[in-house]
Amino acid sequence: MKKILFVASESVPFIKTGGLADVVGSLPKYFNKEKYDVRVMLPKYMCMKQEWKEKLQYKTHFYMDLNWRSQYVGILELEHDGIIFYFVDNEYYFSGAKPYGYIHEDIEKFAFFSKAALSALPLIDFRPDIIHCHDWQTGLIPVYLDNFRYGNEFFRGIRSVFTIHNLKFQGIWDKKSVKDITGLPEYYFVPDKLEAYKDANYLKGGVVYADRVTTVSNSYAEEIKMPFYGEKLDGLMNARANCLSGIVNGIDYDDYNPETDIHVPYHYNAENFRKEKVKNKMELQKELGLEVDSKTMMIGIVSRLTDQKGFDLIAYVMDELCQDAVQFVVLGTGEEQYENMFRHFAWKYNGKVSANIYYSEALSHKIYAACDAFLMPSLFEPCGLSQLMSLRYGTVPIVRETGGLKDTVEAYNEFEKTGTGFSFSNYNAHEMMNTVRYAERIYYDKRRDWNKIVERAMLKDFSWNNSAKQYEELYDNL
Ligand code: ADP
Ligand code: GLC
Repeated sequence: MKKILFVASESVPFIKTGGLADVVGSLPKYFNKEKYDVRVMLPKYMCMKQEWKEKLQYKTHFYMDLNWRSQYVGILELEHDGIIFYFVDNEYYFSGAKPYGYIHEDIEKFAFFSKAALSALPLIDFRPDIIHCHDWQTGLIPVYLDNFRYGNEFFRGIRSVFTIHNLKFQGIWDKKSVKDITGLPEYYFVPDKLEAYKDANYLKGGVVYADRVTTVSNSYAEEIKMPFYGEKLDGLMNARANCLSGIVNGIDYDDYNPETDIHVPYHYNAENFRKEKVKNKMELQKELGLEVDSKTMMIGIVSRLTDQKGFDLIAYVMDELCQDAVQFVVLGTGEEQYENMFRHFAWKYNGKVSANIYYSEALSHKIYAACDAFLMPSLFEPCGLSQLMSLRYGTVPIVRETGGLKDTVEAYNEFEKTGTGFSFSNYNAHEMMNTVRYAERIYYDKRRDWNKIVERAMLKDFSWNNSAKQYEELYDNL
């Protein structure tokens, strides 16, 4: 039995800010249980829902030195859906109203979390063969692991994998402070280790010290070796190319299932969607105060409202697109300029545009089920889960050909009658608009072809089954 420990800053159903939580919470369930014992370690955030906090069971506690600070580390445990989750408790670090998002706090918070995660291992009767770290928040784990190995037999032989979910966020802070916070020796603070452009960089530490580095799609694994997507670490990615590979994300096919989804009023599948899916559209039109019309094409957006997702393209042509026979349903939070932009369009095109500027699991599922198309024109996209959810619900994705979007959405070819969505390549507002309009034409004028696209989309398999096997192989080769 191989023992694997996932360490991450978020996981469904406990705490979620984005796709990372979906991955960490669902992937562990899809490993072969006879060969892999996969567990997950998370921070115990105060802002976690009470219903979860109540269920956690105390396991142990100890005090740990973080350089000159001596800090309490509590370890709690919960089994959920057959997976054991450990929670690292410390009220000083994990008491904010959001799990993270203020870098001046996060730098020390995740140094603490990373060291605590390792330090707890000898006390929880689970010595992993492999520690699988996710994103910059856990970048120091492979570094501490290297450091721990010298003095401590227990840590010798533990291997590490580091997965990049988003290279944009690296955890960068000045070297002097990071030295003081982490207590790591001077030795690590040089340009071929933790240092990048004179600062300390947590993600770089993970990439340099992990035995294997993965990212969440093949295209993104290639893209980050180039300056445009490399976020100033393209040189490092090239240097680590032999250890770097892409494994595309999946989604939880039980949680996201149009035949059983508890949030969706009318269930449907790849056979009966022609009659049933549209009922969800009309229900949502009623709920959101849009003009109720089964025939109008409805385009959905569920997203963090940030530059990454291509909202400046939408801003540029939204007025023009709103002249067409389409409705837009938006669900998201994030940068104020984009929140206000959608509020503005909802006011200006009342009955046609619905702006829902908040977070709602339930509404997100209703949108995936109700819409005809889903718009995701990302500037960059390591993988993207929203387009996978859309495919699963027969909601045709319209995407830019980048990262995981390129790897998971196949562009419609009207001559060969193939494809599961629509796509464009350049980051250009009019290219996006033309693609949306092309989709409109197929929707309105070639309904049979449109329905075939929907059917092909629904029959695609983006469950975790394939990708979990690739992770198993990766673990076996370590
Ligand atoms: P990212 O991780 O970059 O935000 P992904 O497409 O990988 O993008 O994952 C986004 C996840 O967050 C999806 O599960 C999506 O449904 C969900 N999501 C984003 N915004 C909201 C929101 N406002 N309400 C509910 N779910 C949201
Ligand atoms: C990041 C990326 C997104 C990816 C998710 C899960 O948030 O932005 O593309 O799907 O992580 O890997």
